[in-house]
Formats: sequence, structure tokens, C-alpha cells
Amino acid sequence: MKQYRDLNDIPDLDRLIEQAISLKKDPFAFKELGRNKTIGMLFFNSSLRTRLSTQKAAQNLGMEVIVMNLNSDGWKLEFEDGTIMDGDTAEHIREAAAVISQYVDIIALRAFPSLTNKEEDQKEMILNSFSTYASVPVVNMESATAHPLQALADAITITEFKNKPKPKVVLSWAPHPRALPHAVPNSFAKMMQLLDVDFLITNPEGYDLAPEIIGNTPVVRDQKAALADADFVYAKNWSSFTDYGKILLNDPSWMITLDKIRSAKFMHCLPVRRNVIVEDAVLNSDQSLVIQQANNRTWAAQSVIKSILEEQNA
Ligand code: CP
Repeated sequence: MKQYRDLNDIPDLDRLIEQAISLKKDPFAFKELGRNKTIGMLFFNSSLRTRLSTQKAAQNLGMEVIVMNLNSDGWKLEFEDGTIMDGDTAEHIREAAAVISQYVDIIALRAFPSLTNKEEDQKEMILNSFSTYASVPVVNMESATAHPLQALADAITITEFKNKPKPKVVLSWAPHPRALPHAVPNSFAKMMQLLDVDFLITNPEGYDLAPEIIGNTPVVRDQKAALADADFVYAKNWSSFTDYGKILLNDPSWMITLDKIRSAKFMHCLPVRRNVIVEDAVLNSDQSLVIQQANNRTWAAQSVIKSILEEQNA
């Protein structure tokens, strides 16, 4: 694999998932692969799982890890070309990405959307600028529109826990007091469209994801009907895409309950707001896979980084 900016970068999904499951059984089998190599993990936003699991994955492969919180510790970056930099931006991405590439062999990047300017967010300016001006591969640790490491961990989890060849998987919108990005549901939907699953999305009016994300996936307004006979229920809040970044509804009747999901397995990327997105009874039950999902973040990241290192060595 040359890079991992989005799911389109995966040459063979089945192989990537199988490799992740194999690495989970033998985490240090490729400890020599990353010797004398460094990953630079650059964060514009907060993280718990992505930061720790990606660091652990790289270390399992023998890599050195540099972590930098760019907003608090770096110079404020300029991304526009031709700007007269007499304002608050002190360093241009052209120099920053090129310089960082001298110090590390892989750049991993987290940069959330503004949720105020749809066109700008859809352009993925930060991710694309790093990709353009870096001379090393870029790994997406959640960008404005995609969270492919999370989606790979979700695919691994469904592969491990499915008990029929083609399980029914439902992505359900759930309420949240703050406006949240579309990256997780976008990548989850795209991943489910690649797997052999019976996939549908349920969300209220005004909350449809981008048409290119929905594709041919059915979108059902009636959450109860959508959840009937589900094998996996993936809950997530996202803000409106059409009325971009807005909260149109905070209806608690969309919260996920045991009564609604019956015997289905419950998934969420975390962090999750208890008794807002999902009731305690679900998270505290054996039906919840959220901890196993978070564990799989390590093996997803390790499978991706291993594939990139192998491509570099080829
Ligand atoms: N799921 C996820 O990406 O978690 P963090 O934001 O804590 O990294």
C-alpha cells in the first residue's frame, strides 16, 4: 500500500483484514520491519484511541514514534498559495510538510472539518496539502470527511463477530448535543458497501449523508423498522450535511436502547455519551462490542502501517 488517505487506497481489503487478524495473534512477528524507521503522528485535534492505538501499532512493528500537537506546539500553518503572510500564519505548508518528511518515514495526520464551510471541508485541504508537499506516505487518522482507520477496525470487528455469511448491519443516527463531523459515518458506510453485508442507514429527515456516500444504500426514516432483525447496530451522531454543520433535531427517541436492538451486537467508534447516544443497559451488556472495536484499532493501524513499510522496502 502506497498511502492510506481513504478506503480507495486499499489494494485488497480481504487481505488487509486477514493480516490484521493475524497480527492480533502475533503482534511482534514483524518487529524488524520498522527498525530505524519513524512515524510522525501530527494532531490538529484531540484523540484517545487513534493516538494510543496507532502509536502501539507502530511500536509493535519496531518503529520510532514522534507525536506532535500542531495547534498548541507548532507554528500556525498557511495552506493557501500566493498569500502575503503578514497575518497570524507563520509557516507555509510547503516548507512544513517538506521539512517533516526529512525527519519521518510516514506522516499520520488528524485534522477535523470546520463544519462551517462545506465546500472547504469537502476539499480536504489539510490532508491534501500534506499529501502534496510531503515526500513520505500519509496516513489519515481522521480528516474532514473520512476516518478510514476506524472503518477498517469496524470491518475487522464485524468479520470476527458475524455468525452468518451475510449479516444485516444498520448504521443509525443518534442524538448528540454538539454538531459532529461526517467522517466516521462516511467511512463506515463506504466500508459496508465493500463488505458482503446487508447494509442500511436510518436517520431523520435532514440528516442524509452526502449522495456519493449513500450510493445505493437504502435510507430508512423509521428507526424501529430499520433495526428489525439487525445483527449489528452501529450508532453515531452526525450533524446535517444538507444544512451543513447544523443540529436540526435532538430527539431522545432516537437513542439506542436494548429494547430497540433486541439481540443485535452494538457498535460505536467511541467516545460515546451514555444515555444520550445509547442507554447504559446496552453498553453494559455482552451485546456491546465497543471495547473489542477499540482494541481492533491497533490491529487495523498495524496492518496498514505494515503494508506501507513493505511497499517502501520493495
Ligand atoms: N474513535 C476514535 O477515533 O477515537 P479518538 O477520537 O479518541 O481517537
